[in-house]
Amino acid sequence: MDTRRKSSDTPPTPASGVQGAGAGGSVAGVGNDRTIPDIDLLTPLTIRGAALRNRIVVSPMCQYSAVDGMADDWHLVHLGSRAVGGAGLVFTEATSVAPEGRITPGDLGIWDDRQIEPLARVVRFIHRMGAVAGIQLAHAGRKASHRPPWDGGATLKVAEEGGWQVVGPSAVPFNEGDPLPRPLAEDEIGRIIEAFVKAGLRAIRAGYKVVELHSAHGYLLHEFLSPLSNQRTDLYGGSPENRMRLTTEIASRLREALPDEVPLFVRISATDWVEGGWDLAQSIALAKGLKSVGVEVIDTSSGALVPKATIPVGKNYQVPFAAAIRKEAGIMTGAVGMITEPDQASEIITSGSADLVFLAREMLREPYWALKAQQALNQDPNWPVQYGYAVRRR
Ligand SMILES: Cc1cc2nc3c(=O)[nH]c(=O)nc-3n(C[C@H](O)[C@H](O)[C@H](O)COP(=O)(O)O)c2cc1C
Repeated sequence: MDTRRKSSDTPPTPASGVQGAGAGGSVAGVGNDRTIPDIDLLTPLTIRGAALRNRIVVSPMCQYSAVDGMADDWHLVHLGSRAVGGAGLVFTEATSVAPEGRITPGDLGIWDDRQIEPLARVVRFIHRMGAVAGIQLAHAGRKASHRPPWDGGATLKVAEEGGWQVVGPSAVPFNEGDPLPRPLAEDEIGRIIEAFVKAGLRAIRAGYKVVELHSAHGYLLHEFLSPLSNQRTDLYGGSPENRMRLTTEIASRLREALPDEVPLFVRISATDWVEGGWDLAQSIALAKGLKSVGVEVIDTSSGALVPKATIPVGKNYQVPFAAAIRKEAGIMTGAVGMITEPDQASEIITSGSADLVFLAREMLREPYWALKAQQALNQDPNWPVQYGYAVRRR
């Protein structure tokens, strides 16, 4: 018996408005689609109007290669290659909603209308290749103003070397000896919320079909979540509810502003890996709150709030967090971290641990990873037409 699955066996559901569902699709609000049998890595998934051809996601990856936050040929080729390579969803890197929210001066930005068209060029190509373009909106908070990693990644401490004053919830630096972040006043927090909303609207004008809020890895929103970096005593600090306020408020405002067909994802660090820090129980509570304001997917990462944490890095090490949040909060999740093999990735989906699998470094090593995964999992790879007829000849 020919057990090869053809991509045409499970066509993506056409964009269908708010409650997209169908073959491999998921009804937004139900939480997950595990009632539909035979779902694996290659099964399409429609979330609101975003029809993903499979569950393979190119994880957001900073390229530190922009000038004045503007995308250029590098971003087109970098992201475009991975769309050619068969992924279902291709995320543009952490894209800053404000100049001072950049990790390095080379970060992409979306604080200015001029930044829309260069991103739109990238988006058009990703969509032409049959993938869906997503963007991660970010503010680096106290971890802003650094050199790129290939230059050592040191803090840019003063304006003369291209640095700027960093901000955060409290005057607690990431590393001892780092410049103290300036605690944000409440009116400044209001302006940052507005900046995220405006950035989301610019992302829509650029054509993005998925928006992700970056609330992980020790950047601004995660700094508000964790009691280790947030020592405020106002509405944005203290109780877990207060610490979650900023992420939830931005998600809620973005949800109201985004078109119905555009799903909202939130990336979180499920734990700080430090006693007394942010942890899985708080992440589950946050996920429930985010679900109630219309967030569809929790992209589940971990760590990076503090420099010293013992993290058991290894194959699938963050997957249990995605599974627990999915189960306890009844929301779709993405798994990420040390996922490299097609069977491994597919098992994450078939076991019900997550709805999407995000790959980062393996996608750098192999931009055509998704095509190879299709082959490995006995599906006809969805080569672009320019390549497909030729490579199938032998
Ligand atoms: C070069 C590079 C840049 C990254 N930039 C981002 C980013 O912009 N936003 C983000 O949330 N994570 C970022 N990450 C983290 C990845 O998205 C991913 O979570 C992490 O690398 C673990 O996945 P992996 O084991 O498949 O690499 C970056 C990782 C790499 C390697």
